[in-house]
Amino acid sequence: MTIIVTGGAGFIGSNFIYYELKNHPQDRIICYDALTYAGNLSSLKGALEYKNFSFVRGDIADEKAVDELFEREKPDIVVNFAAETHVDRSILNPASFTKTNIIGTQTLMDASREFGVKRFHQVSTDEVYGELPLDKPELMFTEETPIHTSSPYSASKASADLLALSYYRTFGLPVSITRCSNNYGSYQFPEKLIPLVISRAAEDKPIPVYGRGENVRDWLYVMDHCAAIDLVMRLGREGEVYNVGGHNEKTNIEVVRTILKKLGKPESLISFVKDRPGHDKRYAIDAFKIEKELGWKPQTRFDDGIGLTVDWYLENGKWLGDILAGDYRNYYDKMYAGRM
Ligand code: NAD
Ligand code: TYD
Repeated sequence: MTIIVTGGAGFIGSNFIYYELKNHPQDRIICYDALTYAGNLSSLKGALEYKNFSFVRGDIADEKAVDELFEREKPDIVVNFAAETHVDRSILNPASFTKTNIIGTQTLMDASREFGVKRFHQVSTDEVYGELPLDKPELMFTEETPIHTSSPYSASKASADLLALSYYRTFGLPVSITRCSNNYGSYQFPEKLIPLVISRAAEDKPIPVYGRGENVRDWLYVMDHCAAIDLVMRLGREGEVYNVGGHNEKTNIEVVRTILKKLGKPESLISFVKDRPGHDKRYAIDAFKIEKELGWKPQTRFDDGIGLTVDWYLENGKWLGDILAGDYRNYYDKMYAGRM
């Protein structure tokens, strides 16, 4: 089987590529990624050593480049991770979110139709459901929860989901969608909460916590998400949405305190700052459908996963340091110098 993984130089995509190379060594994987600020080819250093893996740099919204890629590689499966993903950036600059997350997804689906792709899998987010209140812990998002978005990021992801479902209904494109809660693990860009806290605390820098840190997220270890995507894209039903979540709700302040404790750093580093506009209060996923239909369950307890994650960042100081210094952006040129 030939699988195109878009956005595979980012956080979840790179973990997914390692998951596939390990669990499906007979498949051919092509990573297609524009290497925006969030894409880091050095995250795929280990993958580039595999004969059945290759990397192509390109934009998912570039119709010509996408068509050429599909024509050349003839993919059986396309799994779309490529996206602008940071809520705070979507508040500053929504336009790139519309282009990549909506037009880019459409461009990939048009090519998938044209070249007879057997499965187009869209990696989506629980943020399309909006927020849950803090005082009703029994409420959770199911696949039937209405779409109700808060940020330009979640609105663009919801738009892509609706387009994907319309391509199934109207054109019969075999799509599937997973909507996952917040992920944590290795290779996450240090603008997101968990790697931001680890990298700043390691240097004894203040840690910005929005509002009072009372917002709740449902954290899932990234490899558990990868396993869910792998199952759904191979065995999930066409035209269906599957929620993926960790049954692991934490307030932001709990997460920050846990990390500080693991690092042996004082809570005096915590600095409460002005809240994010439109900040969703709580996300919580009901993952009953994927558990029942496909037998998926999260395997990693938060305490273990956060320990692995903290250790990974401490052991991979160069990966982090190159990002903080901006040097990671030169990696592509170094890696490919004289090879193209
Ligand atoms: P990320 O920001 O770490 O990586 C995004 C990747 O997409 C980068 O490698 C970037 O270079 C690439 N990219 C961006 N624009 C592109 C374009 N126009 N063409 C080609 N490549 C482009 O993101 P992530 O956290 O790994 O998220 C991956 C997917 O999972 C996203 O679709 C996101 O919405 C979804 N998701 C993320 C989370 C989470 O907690 N991180 C949770 C649920 C769903
Ligand atoms: P983030 O990692 O940006 O993911 P998302 O907004 O997609 O859930 O943020 C996770 C939570 O942490 C969210 O409630 C916002 C909060 N947060 C902070 O308190 N401080 C920060 O510096 C960041 C980046 C996030």
